[in-house]
Amino acid sequence: MTSPASRDGNAEGSATPRRSAGDEVTAPYRSGPSAPEPAANQPAPVKRIRIPQLHAMKERGERWAMLTAYDTYAAEIFDEAGIPVLLVGDSAANNVYGYDTTLPITVDELLPLVRAVVRSTRRALVLADLPFGSYQVGPAQALETATRFMKEGGAHAVKLEGGRRFAPQTEALVGAGIPVMAHLGFTPQSEHTIGGYRVQGRGDTGETLIADALAMQEAGAFAVVLEMVPADVAKRVTAELAIPTVGIGAGPDCDAQVLVWQDMAGLNRGRTPRFVKRYADLGDALFNAARAFGSEVRDGVYPDPEHSYS
Ligand code: KIV
Repeated sequence: MTSPASRDGNAEGSATPRRSAGDEVTAPYRSGPSAPEPAANQPAPVKRIRIPQLHAMKERGERWAMLTAYDTYAAEIFDEAGIPVLLVGDSAANNVYGYDTTLPITVDELLPLVRAVVRSTRRALVLADLPFGSYQVGPAQALETATRFMKEGGAHAVKLEGGRRFAPQTEALVGAGIPVMAHLGFTPQSEHTIGGYRVQGRGDTGETLIADALAMQEAGAFAVVLEMVPADVAKRVTAELAIPTVGIGAGPDCDAQVLVWQDMAGLNRGRTPRFVKRYADLGDALFNAARAFGSEVRDGVYPDPEHSYS
């Protein structure tokens, strides 16, 4: 397996001291007059989170959070709140486009959302999901799709669903310089094969899940999402992998946790899975705001002189 350290340019056992995650040097490019040095009294420019930092956090036992983001305001807020990784998930199918499943969303529908999130953030690493049907054919198709997300969307990494069957795709992307997060356990793009939203990895299938996680690490994935996996299995995977695990319904022992933001913030007022914790009630707040606006317009209360021009 390519260890995080060797991918970092420091092969294990090398005499060269390993650079720490904070050691990134100033980019040697754009060093002409178009990129002047910041004035001495200016705050240092904010730097993007990089994958070696996520690996260093695992080594230090520091947990981190990831949220989905699909639009400018949410992305800006999450970035300012210090969420280090934002996922432009194919869950935009449900949460933006109103589809019943993640299957229908296309690359052309997801790309503008990736662009919006990248443009609206300064610090977060932005991850683009590869939609169903855009990478399953083989490594060449995966490379073509992922290249679009990196080049046209400005993404910093991509995510794909599946285990060892997708190791060739992962190797092709990583070989081309595209970081890959794998997604195991319940994989929504396969919900028709799985037979609905079901916990994965119980009983004997736990061993298969662990083998898949190791295969994706071996193929070069920089992290693995574990969705709806028993907590004890997720704990084992986390202990066996050198790369971070990102849990969603996978218990407390993963290195990181991810939630869909509309679930976490209560904008989605419908039923949510058991693993979702609501940290706000944005759905109710928005409902009440819309009701108040409607009634003030009907009653002639809005706009008042304060909100009008003379
Ligand atoms: O698309 C998505 O939102 C995801 C997360 C649930 C991990 O894949």
